[in-house]
Amino acid sequence: MPLARSLSVTSLSGLDEWDEEFELEDAVLFEIAWEVANKVGGIYTVIQTKARMTAEEWGENYFLVGPYVESNVRTQVELIEPTNPVLKRTIDKMNASGCKYAAQSEDPPHIVAQFHEWLAGLGLVLCRQRQLAVATIFTTHATLLGRYLCAGNVDFYNNLAEFNVDKEAGDRQIYHRYCLERAAAHCAHVFTTVSQITAIEAEFLLKRKPDIVTPNGLNVKKFSAMHEFQNLHAQSKSRIQEFVRGHFYGNLDFNLDKCLFLFIAGRYEFSNKGADIFLEALARLNYLLRVNHSDVTVITFFIMPARTNNFNVETLKGQAVRKQLWDTAQTVKERFGKKLYESLLVGQLPDVSKMLDKEDFTIMKRAIFATQRQCQPPVCTHNMLEDSSDPILNCVRRIGLFNSSADRVKIIFHPEFLSSTSPLLPMDYEEFVRGCHLGVFPSYYEPWGYTPAECTVMGIPSISTNLSGFGCFMEEHIADPSAYGIYILDRRYKGVDESCNQLTSFLFQFCKQSRRQRIIQRNRTERLSDLLDWRYLGRYYIAARHMALAKAFPDTYVYDPQEPSSASGFRYPRPASVPPSPALSRHSSPHHSEGEDNEEDERYDEELEAEKDRVNIRQPYTISVKGKTVL
Ligand code: UDP
Ligand code: G6P
Ligand code: GLC
Repeated sequence: MPLARSLSVTSLSGLDEWDEEFELEDAVLFEIAWEVANKVGGIYTVIQTKARMTAEEWGENYFLVGPYVESNVRTQVELIEPTNPVLKRTIDKMNASGCKYAAQSEDPPHIVAQFHEWLAGLGLVLCRQRQLAVATIFTTHATLLGRYLCAGNVDFYNNLAEFNVDKEAGDRQIYHRYCLERAAAHCAHVFTTVSQITAIEAEFLLKRKPDIVTPNGLNVKKFSAMHEFQNLHAQSKSRIQEFVRGHFYGNLDFNLDKCLFLFIAGRYEFSNKGADIFLEALARLNYLLRVNHSDVTVITFFIMPARTNNFNVETLKGQAVRKQLWDTAQTVKERFGKKLYESLLVGQLPDVSKMLDKEDFTIMKRAIFATQRQCQPPVCTHNMLEDSSDPILNCVRRIGLFNSSADRVKIIFHPEFLSSTSPLLPMDYEEFVRGCHLGVFPSYYEPWGYTPAECTVMGIPSISTNLSGFGCFMEEHIADPSAYGIYILDRRYKGVDESCNQLTSFLFQFCKQSRRQRIIQRNRTERLSDLLDWRYLGRYYIAARHMALAKAFPDTYVYDPQEPSSASGFRYPRPASVPPSPALSRHSSPHHSEGEDNEEDERYDEELEAEKDRVNIRQPYTISVKGKTVL
C-alpha cells in the first residue's frame, strides 16, 4: 500500500526546506531509463540501489521501465502477471500493437514519470507534446556536449559560457541527440541533475538551470561487528593475491605481503576518467619507489570494458600454472602425510631425510619447469580488438611500464567488468574493491562518480577530483577529507602536469603508510558511509517528485519551498585523533619496535580511534511523518 505522507525535510546543503501534505495514495510513479536492469555504468547503480527505498514509499504503484534485453531479462527480472487491471489492459494492448500508449482508466491516477538521461528523454517530450496528464521529471547524469567536449581535450570549465552549443554539437555530429536532451530538459516540469558542478554545466549547455540537485546514494550495509569490513578486506585481498601469484608466475620476485593493490574502474573514457594522468603518475611513482629503494610493490588494475575477443592464452596459462603448483603441493603433502602416518603406526619417529622420495622430487621438478617463462607477465588480460590504437596500451608502451622485475609499479589491464563466474579472476566487483587498498579516479569529467562513493562505503580510501560531483560533495561536507582517506585532486585550478605531480605525491605518501596506518584510515573512511546512504540522500528525489506533482496538478498538490535551514552546510569535523600520516604516526605501545605490525595493538588502536572519531551524522538531518521524527 502506498503511504500518505506529510514530510518535513531538512536540507543537507542549501536545498530549500519544505513541509507539505502529500497524499500519494492515488499516485503512480514510473521511472524510465536505458539502464533499468541493463548495466552500462553508474545510472544502473542509481536505479538498482534506490529501488528498495522507492518501493518502500510507493509500494505496488512504482514501475521501472527499461529496454527489453533477453539476456538481462533472464538473469535479472522475475516475470509476473500484473495484478492492477489498468496496467494489465495497457500491457496487453502494448503487446498486441507494438509499443503504443493506452492508459484507459475511468478514474485516472496522478502519474509522475521520471526520465533519466537523453535516451529516455524522447518519452518525456512526447508526453508533453501529446498533453498527457503526467507530472514529468528529467534527470540528466551528464550533458552529451560536456562529455564530448571534455573527451576532445577542450579547456571546458574555463569556457563554459563561451561555447556556441549548436555549432559544437553539429561539429561532433550529435546535434539530433543534443536537441533531444535539451528538449527533454525544457519540457520537464522538474529538471534535476546529480551534482552542483553538472547543474552549472547544464545551465550553460542545455540553457536550463536544474530545479533540484539529487546526489546519488547507495545502500549502506551495516555490520554488527565493527571489524567485519576489515575482515572482508583481508579475505578479498587474499583472493586477489592468489590471482597475482598466477599472473606473475615465474616472476614472483616481490613480497606479496608488501604489495598494494590500486585500481581504476568504470566506462572506458580514457581522458574523462583520468586514466591518462593516472598512467603518467604511475610512471613517476615507479621512479620514486625505485630511487628510494622501497620494498613496496604497487599492482594497479585498470577495469574498463573495451572490445575484445576473450582472455589471452598467456593470462589463462598463468592461472593454470598456479593451480597446477597448488595441486602438486597437495599431492606431495598427501604422500608425505601417508608416510608419516605409517611411520607413527609402527611406533617410529620418521626419518625426515626419507620423507620425500625420488618420485616426489620428479613431480615437483616437473611442476617448477612449467613455471619457466620467456616473456614478462602480460599487461592486458584479454585479446584486444583494437590493440594498436588502444589508448591505455599505447600509453603503457610510451611510459614503458611492462611489468619487468625492476619495476615497482605493475599494471594489469582487465578490459571487461568483473564477474564472479570469470575463469580468470572469479570475483564480483564489490568483493574486488574490498580487497584493494586504494581506488584511483582522477576524472576530468565526472558528473557524480559512483566508484569512489562505493569505495567509501566499503571502507576503502580513494582519490577523486574537484571536478567530480562526488569530490565536490565530499569537500563540502568534510572538514579534512584526506584524513578520512578521501583524497581530492585539484584539477580545477592546476595545469595537467601540476595535477599529475599532486597525484604522484598522494600515491607516494600512500605507499609510505604502515599497515597500522592503513587500518586506521580504513576505519575512518568507512565512518563516512552515512553521508552517502539513500536513507538521507533519497529525500532529494522525494522533493523532486513532489515539486513535479504540484506543478502538474496544482489543484491537488502544493509545494511550498521555505528558507534553507540552519543545518544546511553541515560538515564532518576533522578526526579528533592524529591523522594517519607516516611522519606523525608511532606505535602507541612502548614495547613495540618500529615498523613491526602487531595485530592485537592494531585492534586496540582501531577501537580507540573509532571511539574518538565517532561523529553522529544522523543528528542534522531529520524526516518527520505527521510531525513525528522518523529518521
Ligand atoms: N562497475 C561494475 N563492475 C565493474 C566495474 C565497475 O559494475 O567491474 C560499476 C561500478 O559499481 C559503478 C559503475 O560501474 O557503479 C560506474 O559508475 P560511475 O558513476 O563511476 O561512472 P560511469 O561509468 O557511469 O560514468
Ligand atoms: C584488516 C584485517 C587485518 C589485516 C589487515 C591488512 O584490517 O582485519 O587482520 O592485517 O586488514 O591490511 P592491509 O592494508 O595490509 O591489507
Ligand atoms: C553518469 C556519469 C557518472 C555518474 C552516473 C550516475 O554515467 O558519468 O559520473 O556517477 O551517471 O549518475
